[in-house]
Amino acid sequence: GAPIQVDISKLELGQQMTVEWQGQPVWVVKRTPQNLTDLASLTAQLVDPSSQKDQQPSYAQNAYRSIKPEISVLIGICTHLGCSPTYRPDRAAKDLDASWKGGFVCPCHGSRFDLAGRAYKHYPAQANLIVPPYFYKTDTVIEIG
Ligand code: FES
Repeated sequence: GAPIQVDISKLELGQQMTVEWQGQPVWVVKRTPQNLTDLASLTAQLVDPSSQKDQQPSYAQNAYRSIKPEISVLIGICTHLGCSPTYRPDRAAKDLDASWKGGFVCPCHGSRFDLAGRAYKHYPAQANLIVPPYFYKTDTVIEIG
């Protein structure tokens, strides 16, 4: 499929946008400074905190799993059985738990991912969400594909 261009100039802090690439949802999330601090603190609870297990672009092999720390680009498909997880940016969400730092929760079997798409231990999905190939065409335009 052809690459797509995504204009992120209107994306606000904490906001998620969804675009379609190769028939799959791709999420772009603008993370807050608090989110970035949280991501750095989560390692012990994650299956593969630095994305070494799965084949990932080299720019995904860090705690943010992204080229720019604040902008996350992820394929929005659960690595368990392929449902699309729900964006849950709310820290300490009452229906999740007090230590929840924001992320994605899969409606099918409850897998949890942080705001870098990293899988939490003790849930069905044992691989991080996939980071698609992308680059910055300009400061505010991402090309995916
Ligand atoms: Fe997401 Fe099973 S498909 S937890």
